[in-house]
Amino acid sequence: MQIDPGTLDQTSIYKLLISSVVPRPIAWVSTYDAAGMPNLAPFSYFMAITDQPPTIAFSCSPRASGKKDTLTNVEALGQFVVNIVDDDCAEQMNLTSGEYLPEVDEFALSKLTAVPATKVTAPRVAEAPISMECNVVKILPVGRAHLTIGEVVHWHVRDDVYDPTTGRFDMHRLKPLGRLTGNLYSHIHQIFEMKRPNPDYRG
Ligand SMILES: Cc1cc2nc3c(=O)[nH]c(=O)nc-3n(C[C@H](O)[C@H](O)[C@H](O)COP(=O)(O)O)c2cc1C
Repeated sequence: MQIDPGTLDQTSIYKLLISSVVPRPIAWVSTYDAAGMPNLAPFSYFMAITDQPPTIAFSCSPRASGKKDTLTNVEALGQFVVNIVDDDCAEQMNLTSGEYLPEVDEFALSKLTAVPATKVTAPRVAEAPISMECNVVKILPVGRAHLTIGEVVHWHVRDDVYDPTTGRFDMHRLKPLGRLTGNLYSHIHQIFEMKRPNPDYRG
């Protein structure tokens, strides 16, 4: 089967793209609006870009009525927090994805605790195992979306998730949620190790 995206409408292309790039991590982005109202929403067009300096990005598509609140807020304040969604937070994350009016506080609606961040003006999700405080580096228009690139200036990590012997987060304890397509998600419960080949490996 061959598919030429040039022959398809936007919804069909969206379906192909989000079921090709799987599973995706979820950036649970918390911000304040210009009046100090907290906002929280999930974005799975999300990636790490580089570690020097630590830089991540998420993309915000428009809604029928215009800009999403998250984009309005990162444009206005230049700061945000990306919280990592684990299995325990899945339902609350889903609740925060409703296309609510800007005056709706998704923290209150989903019974989550908003805690002030340490270095940026944005709330973080106390229940999340990892939160990354970010300063906006750039907001790039890409097609119909906007890609927000942010530098991580501070990490909040739940103590049990950090493995001091490896300096990494323990995937068995973190239990990150993956987004698939439509309403499907994946639990990361089967983890295996695979060492990289030596440069002189020839088969
Ligand atoms: C798991 C998940 C991932 C999502 N990923 C994106 C995304 O990458 N880009 C986007 O524009 N919307 C995404 N959405 C939809 C937004 O979360 C939704 O439009 C939300 O209402 C935006 O909230 P806001 O207006 O407060 O920013 C996602 C929803 C879910 C449930």
